[in-house]
Amino acid sequence: MSNPSESSPRDGESSPLSANAANTARRGFLKVGTAASASVVAALASNRPLRGAEPQNNSEEPVRIGLVGAGGRGAGAINDSLTINENVTLSAIADLEERKLESVLKGTAKRHEGKVDVAEHKMHSGIDAYRRILDDPDIDVVLFATPPGFRPQYVAEAVDAGKHVFAEKPTCVDPAGYKICLSAHEQAEKNGTAIVTGTQYRRQTNYMEAIKKLHEGMIGDIIAATMRYCSSGIWFRNRQPDMSDTQYQVYNWMHHIWLSGDQIAEQAVHNIDTMNWIMGGPPESAYGSGGRFTRPEGSEMWDNVEVDYVYPGNRLVSFMCRQIPGTQGDNSNTIYCTGGQCTIRGGNSGASIVDRDGKELWSMKGDIGAAYKQEHKDLIDSVRNGKPIVELKATADSSMTAALGRMAAYTGKRVTWDFATKESKLDLFPKDFDINGSRPEPQFAVPGKTKLI
Ligand SMILES: NC(=O)c1ccc[n+]([C@@H]2O[C@H](COP(=O)([O-])OP(=O)(O)OC[C@H]3O[C@@H](n4cnc5c(N)ncnc54)[C@H](O)[C@@H]3O)[C@@H](O)[C@H]2O)c1
Repeated sequence: MSNPSESSPRDGESSPLSANAANTARRGFLKVGTAASASVVAALASNRPLRGAEPQNNSEEPVRIGLVGAGGRGAGAINDSLTINENVTLSAIADLEERKLESVLKGTAKRHEGKVDVAEHKMHSGIDAYRRILDDPDIDVVLFATPPGFRPQYVAEAVDAGKHVFAEKPTCVDPAGYKICLSAHEQAEKNGTAIVTGTQYRRQTNYMEAIKKLHEGMIGDIIAATMRYCSSGIWFRNRQPDMSDTQYQVYNWMHHIWLSGDQIAEQAVHNIDTMNWIMGGPPESAYGSGGRFTRPEGSEMWDNVEVDYVYPGNRLVSFMCRQIPGTQGDNSNTIYCTGGQCTIRGGNSGASIVDRDGKELWSMKGDIGAAYKQEHKDLIDSVRNGKPIVELKATADSSMTAALGRMAAYTGKRVTWDFATKESKLDLFPKDFDINGSRPEPQFAVPGKTKLI
């Protein structure tokens, strides 16, 4: 059965939109676009500068953080920020589920005495919980770690509300979300507010050094590359009593493409982001395949996706991701050059460069823990020194590159970057989103039947 997510056109994605207009078009149910811009207007009218619009040079001034999405990564991200930064506080928490608030609050307070100050009325639950944080004038920085499907519009609204943002990856899962990200990036630059993203490898020393050496030409010109994110599986959450269809899909978000973008976007976007960095931007086209053999009933995810990406200069990059129990894992990127090859492995596994005879020319260990923290240090430093980092576009490009590969694999067609970013009408977010509502039966893509739109 074909996946409606790749075959049913939605509205609101065909022309460049302001962050607010995009939100309003895509998520009428929230009816928050006007409120969001009103807060910016109010800030300007009252002559109170947006907190990002002026340097916060005085490191005595505390930076107050609101967390949206208090799950595994949300807890990790706030821990990273409070560990690496001085004079920052966790000041508000929002999550769909009330029980998550207390759990993150307790865990964080235990580890970071003096850096957690969340009053009871700053603990928000429910589908509009994020909005309370955006409307809170006491919050300077918002960390987003919800399922990815919500990311583009939440980030856009945060930018409209004048907040500095940390956005976990991927930042979008479809062309409609990509356009919202591009508008939000532009708007943040105009506001003078920061957007740092959870692509930690961009700040991991062995990745930075290896890619610097590649760009300096240490082993000649780049000819081709491989990217692999292969593992033995991922979690699946069973339905709990009294959950609506939508509640259950959001709870089990990994397995629904409108929320996760499938494994190529949710997980392997790290490799894709690394490759876009190495190649200097996104690819020109994608052609791919894949399938589904072991997923539980009710999952829309494929088990494996393989894509040939062609980057400018006719450089071919072979991509593979897989989550199949009992298979051999591999999380690496190998770049083949005229004078040798460079391999950069995920996590702490390090990087090396060899010549054409296999003789090692350079190697370095990896420290992903330091990279996770560095992104939060860079964010807060950039806010404090009045030079806010805005890096959403690069991460949106990588997220969109993942969506491009998925579109090619799901439909069995060769898909160009130009088509996917300019002509595609694909918008996976449910048109009439209702957290308490019903959803169509989960369906998965079948190449040749699933339409390219
Ligand atoms: N950078 C990395 O290496 C890395 C690692 C892990 C996860 N992530 C990313 O972090 C994000 C979250 O992943 P996770 O593993 O923490 O998932 P999770 O399921 O553990 O947590 C998600 C949380 O968001 C909440 N939530 C869902 N919808 C919400 C909404 N609309 N508003 C408010 N809260 C909502 C859920 O209740 C849950 O507590 C994903 O985008 C994932 O890709 C990044």
